[in-house]
Amino acid sequence: MKVRMSSLILGAALCAMVAGMPSHARAGDETETAELLIALIKAGRAVVSEHQALINDASKGNKGFTDEFVGHEIIEKFKAKTRVDLSRPNGIPQSRLLLTMLESEREVVLEAQPVINKQGVAFKGFIPAVFARKAGQMFHRKTGIKMKLTGANYRFPGNKPDDFEAEVLRMFANPRHPKGQQYAKVTMVDGKSVLRVMEPEYADATCLTCHGGPTGERDITGMKKEGWKEGELAGAISVVMPLR
Ligand code: HEC
Repeated sequence: MKVRMSSLILGAALCAMVAGMPSHARAGDETETAELLIALIKAGRAVVSEHQALINDASKGNKGFTDEFVGHEIIEKFKAKTRVDLSRPNGIPQSRLLLTMLESEREVVLEAQPVINKQGVAFKGFIPAVFARKAGQMFHRKTGIKMKLTGANYRFPGNKPDDFEAEVLRMFANPRHPKGQQYAKVTMVDGKSVLRVMEPEYADATCLTCHGGPTGERDITGMKKEGWKEGELAGAISVVMPLR
């Protein structure tokens, strides 16, 4: 059993594998749950990104970028991507977890209100990556499910990839890895069986103002730019979900 559980499983193959493993039949559902959670955190990040100019506007005090507004925007974005409507959340088995993630995202925005609404300051450090990290931490405290943004040349120490993540990031960076394909594996962490899912992320033009060239130049956050090029692997969203 141990051997089968730790065997490498890729994408949809996971469902087929676990079909023959009654005691872990739930891993297939859990993969879908992880994918939905990733989509929900990405929706939140996109909402922050789309309102970055507003958030960074030094001339405005109250910006109306409230937790309620953001919650609504996230629901709309998530619905457009997944067809799951969290304003009427009873249809699917993952509802409770998804609502907990939504609540975490809203709480991060609520806590940041004094920062976001500060007049006279342009850049406030409230950016998609920081928002997503904090929402992930909040969600972890509530559910025990870990979610993080990680990358080979990470900036924030807490985003450092662990051994598993580093290995999968190397695999994602291989030009032979199909672009965008996730990686999922049932494995053991601290003697407990967990499902790990990672989704690769690539640099687009909007990332390059901070992560692009010239390498070593300071970006708006004061950190050194990595020199990424458009289309390059930027990192991954990593989920560690305990299996019962
Ligand atoms: C405003 C500048 C800025 C922009 C634009 C930006 N990032 Fe980042 N990014 C950061 C900062 C700062 C961090 C560290 C966040 C933290 O404290 O967790 C970070 C963290 C990350 C990480 C996690 C690993 C690490 O470095 O800690 C990834 C992956 C990442 N960014 C990818 C992207 C991608 C992909 C885009 C475009 C879609 C993007 N970033 C746009 C500034 C930026």
